[in-house]
Order: sequence, then structure tokens, then C-alpha cells
Amino acid sequence: MIVTARAHTNIALIKYWGKRDQQLILPQTDSLSLTLDPFYTDTSVNFSPSYDHDQFSINNTPVSSKTARRLTAFLNIVRRQAGISQAARVQSINHVPTAAGLASSASAFAALALAASRAAGLNLSRRDLSRLARRGSGSATRSIYGGLVQWHRGHDDQTSYAEPIMEKVDFGLEMIAILLDTHQKKLSSRIGMQEVVATSPFYPSWRNVVKNDIKNIKNAIAARDIDRIGHIAQENALRMHALNLAADPGFTYFNADTLATMDLIDHLRDTGLSCYYTMDAGPNVKVIYDRRNRQALLTELSKHFAAKQLVLAQAGPGATILKNE
Ligand code: DP6
Repeated sequence: MIVTARAHTNIALIKYWGKRDQQLILPQTDSLSLTLDPFYTDTSVNFSPSYDHDQFSINNTPVSSKTARRLTAFLNIVRRQAGISQAARVQSINHVPTAAGLASSASAFAALALAASRAAGLNLSRRDLSRLARRGSGSATRSIYGGLVQWHRGHDDQTSYAEPIMEKVDFGLEMIAILLDTHQKKLSSRIGMQEVVATSPFYPSWRNVVKNDIKNIKNAIAARDIDRIGHIAQENALRMHALNLAADPGFTYFNADTLATMDLIDHLRDTGLSCYYTMDAGPNVKVIYDRRNRQALLTELSKHFAAKQLVLAQAGPGATILKNE
């Protein structure tokens, strides 16, 4: 049986930046994200007694041995849960612009969790799928659901899962990713967050920052107040990146273009065009705004960036099975 699943990527408005258990990928704090419509991964999985080892391809190219080890470790969790020992063939097609700073590991592990568990004969609830996806990559926990999603940090494997806040986003929240540098990031999020937890003196404050930001952004979401959502998300991103600067050794994912773009967004907002920014483990900037301002924003951004640098995204759906044959 070959099972094909699709999952969309997500961008955090309140960031996950630190683990308290590396093995189980239990986070230090809650986080909250928007699942994005145009960007997704389609993954097909089948287990067969005729395979003598797991085989993986991404965009029709075999993966590196390092990636294969990470994926096999993930499949071992699925095999353990299903009580099977067969090897698998996994084929993934990524519809996420390469290294656009739009985490493809989120859509990749969410799609793999759904396709592999189904192909192994399991029929997991969405909560259990979210717990399983978490074992591949933290941000994948949230990509099981569509729309606005909260990942509860929990206190163990059972209690750390995501839940939708608003699966169908019924107001004009949108994002534009501004692609400034699409090279592979120098420091992976996995390593970056680990260094910050170990060495950043501000880490204890970050836990409190996130607690407040989660509470406030949920109120802003309930009120469908995009200005409030954008403001909270921007401050949260700045504080996450401040942790990096304060680490030992300090580091940053920003480059000069990132800073100039942050400045531009602040300037546009000061002159009356409501928009906010957020950044992840890379130099690209994602702009948060109300759909009503889309045209005005695109007109302004086009003065500074080429059309191919501007990637528009709306809220997207949760993970689904495409084929079961
Ligand atoms: C900055 O989920 O990629 O995008 O759990 O180690 O695989 P691992 O990390 P990952 O980290 C994402 C970090 C972030 C913020 C976020 O998505 O919440």
C-alpha cells in the first residue's frame, strides 16, 4: 500500500526557540504559527518486506546519508508504534521555494508523519499525529493543523502537541516573504537554539516573554485585530533574535539587507501603511499585514525588490491524505 500525504509549512508568530529535551523534542515554551497556503510537501510512503533498507528521495534526488539517518530514526518510531519491522520507500516533493527561509522541515515531517503512520497501518488522531511529527522537527508539530495553531509545550511526550486556535482564518491575515538571500543558512535552527538555551543570559526572561505574548496574541486573534497581532509578533521575533546576539559566542541570522528591510517596514508603518515583520533562522523577512493593504504594500515593496523576491501567502489547511493505493 502506497500512502501519499500533503502538509503545508508554517511561520511562527510566537517563536519556538529552545528545547528542554533534545531526544523527544520537547520545547521550552509554547509557540503559535500560521500555516501557509501555497507551500507544501507531498510525501509517498510504502513499507515492504522486499526492501532491505529505507530509501529516501526529495524532489526525485536521493538524500544525503545524514538526512537518511534522521529520516530512518523517525521511521523507527513509526515502526515501533505499529509493531512492524519492514523497510520503507519514501518519496517527497517539496513545493516550498528552496531555502526561502520558509521552514520546509515543518511540512516535510508533518507529511511524513501522516503518510508513514497510515502506510504502517496506524490510524492516529490528529493530536497523536502532531506528537509524532514533533519527533522529526519541532515546527512540524504545528503543521498537522491549518490556520492559526498553538503548540503546547507540555511536560512530556504525551502532553506536548499542537492544537488549532482558528483552523479557517476568517479575517484578512496574510504574509509576504521577502527573499533576500536563499543560500543555506550557516547555523541550523537546531544548533542555534541549543546554544542560546545553554549560554544566553536572557533565556529565563524569554520564557516569561512567550507566556505573555501567547496570552496577548490569542486575545488579538479572537478580536481579529491584525495590528495587534502584527505588533506582538514583531516584538516576539526581535526578542528571539536578541537571545542570539546575547549568546556566547553571540551570533545573528540577520544580514545588512535584513536590517534595511526591517527599517523599511517600520518606515512604511510610520507613514500609515500598516505592516509588521518577523524573521526565523535566516536573513529573509516575512511581512504580516491585512489583505486590504496587499496592493499598497506590493506597490511599495516593488520599489525595493524584484517581483521574484516577493512571495505571497495566505492561511493554509492542515495535513491530508491525497492517495491510498
Ligand atoms: C525559528 O522546528 O526547524 O523557525 O525542532 O530542531 O527541527 P528542530 O527546529 P525547527 O525550528 C524552528 C525555529 C523557528 C521558530 C518556529 O518555527 O517556531
